[in-house]
Amino acid sequence: MSSFDFEGHITDIVDYPKPGVVFKDITTLLKDPDGFEATIDAIAEHFKDAGVTKVVGAEARGFMIGAPVAYRLHAGFVPARKPGKLPREVRSESYDLEYGSDELQIHADAIEPDDVVLIVDDLVATGGTAEAQAKLIKQFGASLAGMGFLMELAFLNPRQAIAKVTDADVFSLVQVR
Ligand code: PRP
Ligand code: ADE
Repeated sequence: MSSFDFEGHITDIVDYPKPGVVFKDITTLLKDPDGFEATIDAIAEHFKDAGVTKVVGAEARGFMIGAPVAYRLHAGFVPARKPGKLPREVRSESYDLEYGSDELQIHADAIEPDDVVLIVDDLVATGGTAEAQAKLIKQFGASLAGMGFLMELAFLNPRQAIAKVTDADVFSLVQVR
C-alpha cells in the first residue's frame, strides 16, 4: 500500500454545493505529480491480477481516475456519461446522489458478455453512482472484477448500498469515518 498522504492533499469545502455537505476537492491532489501518480498506481496495483479487460468511469471525475487506471492495467476505458452526451444507442440507469439525482449511460456496444469490468471513481459517497454502474454492467452480462475509489465516505455506508447489487471487491485508498 502506498505511503503517500492522500487525505492531506484533498481539500474540504464546507457547505458545498449545498448546506450540510462537506465537499472533498480532489483537484489539490491531482495537481501534485507525485499524488496523481501514487493514486493511479495504488488502484491499479490492487487490481493487477483481476484480469480486468475494461474500466468503466463515470462523468466527470471518474474519467480523471478511471482512464489512467485503465491505461496502467492495459484495459479498455468505457465512459459512463450523463444523458444526451453519447451519440449512438445507449443503455441507461438512474441513481440518487448525496445532493441530487441523475442518470448514467454507456454505449450499447461498449461492453461484451466476456468482459471483466472494473468500476473506478474518485469518490464513493452514498454508493448510488457505483450501484448504477454495477447495474449497467449487469445489463451487458459482463462480470464485475471490483470497484476502486480514491476516497470512500464510509459514514454514508456506501458498501451497504453496493452490497445490494454485487459482492465484488470494493477498494478505497482513503476511508473517511
Ligand atoms: C461525484 C463523484 C462520484 C459520485 C459519488 O460525482 O465523482 O461519481 O459523486 O456519489 P455517490 O456515491 O453518492 O453516488 P458527481 O455526480 O458529483 O459528478 P462530477 O464527477 O461530474 O462532479
Ligand atoms: N460526491 C458525492 N458526495 C461528494 C462529496 N462530499 N465530495 C465530493 N464529491 C462528492
